[in-house]
Amino acid sequence: MNELSLYLLDIMQNSIKADATLVNLNIVTDKDNDLLTINIVDNGCGMSEEVLEKALSPFYTTRTTRKVGLGLPLFKELAELCEGSFKIESKVGVGTNLTATFKLSNIDLPPFGNWVDTFYILVINDENVDIKYIHRVIKNKETKEFVFDTVEIKSILDGMSIKDLSLMKWAKDYIRDGLNEIEAIDNL
Ligand SMILES: Nc1ncnc2c1ncn2[C@@H]1O[C@H](COP(=O)(O)OP(=O)(O)OP(=O)(O)O)[C@@H](O)[C@H]1O
Ligand SMILES: [Mg+2]
Repeated sequence: MNELSLYLLDIMQNSIKADATLVNLNIVTDKDNDLLTINIVDNGCGMSEEVLEKALSPFYTTRTTRKVGLGLPLFKELAELCEGSFKIESKVGVGTNLTATFKLSNIDLPPFGNWVDTFYILVINDENVDIKYIHRVIKNKETKEFVFDTVEIKSILDGMSIKDLSLMKWAKDYIRDGLNEIEAIDNL
C-alpha cells in the first residue's frame, strides 16, 4: 500500500468491526523532532492476549471470507521500516489502544494520500460509531491543532443525518481547510 490513508482505513475499520461506538484518532506531526505519531483508541470488543498475539501475525483473521488478515501486521511492519515503533494494548470488553510512530523524513514513509475522502468514508460508514479526530502539528515549538468530532457535529445537525449527501461538500472542505491551516499534510 502506498498511502497512509489506506492503512488508517483498515485499522479504523477493525475498530468498527469490533463494535466500537467511539474511535479516537490522534495524530501528531512533530516536525521539530521529525516524528509522526498515530494513536487509535477504540471501545470495541477488545482482544485477549492470545488473539492479540495472533492478530499481529499475517495469517490470522477472525473474518471468514479470506484466510489472512493484513491490517495490523502491515501497519506494524511499516512503522518498523520507517525507523518507528508499534505498540498495541487490548482488553476484552474494554477496547484497543494502538500507537505507531514513524520517522517523518524516512524515505519509505508513504504520503497520506487521499486522506480527506478516506476519513470521510469512515465518518459516514456507520452512524452509530462516533469518531474523534485530533491532529496536532508541532513546528518551531508551536503546536497547532485541528479537531473533527462527530459527537459535536451531530449535536448541531438538528436531526439531519451525518450521512446526508448535502453535508458532504461542507464536511470535506472543513476537514481539508482545517488540515491545511495547521500544515498537517503536504499536497492535500
Ligand atoms: N481494534 C480491534 N478490536 C478488536 N479486535 C481486533 C481489532 N483490530 C484487529 N482485531 C482482530 O485482529 C484480527 C486481525 O486484524 P487485521 O486487520 O490484521 O485483519 P482483518 O481485519 O481480519 O482482515 P483485513 O484487515 O485484511 O481485512 C481481526 O480479524 C480481529 O479479530
Ligand atoms: Mg483489518
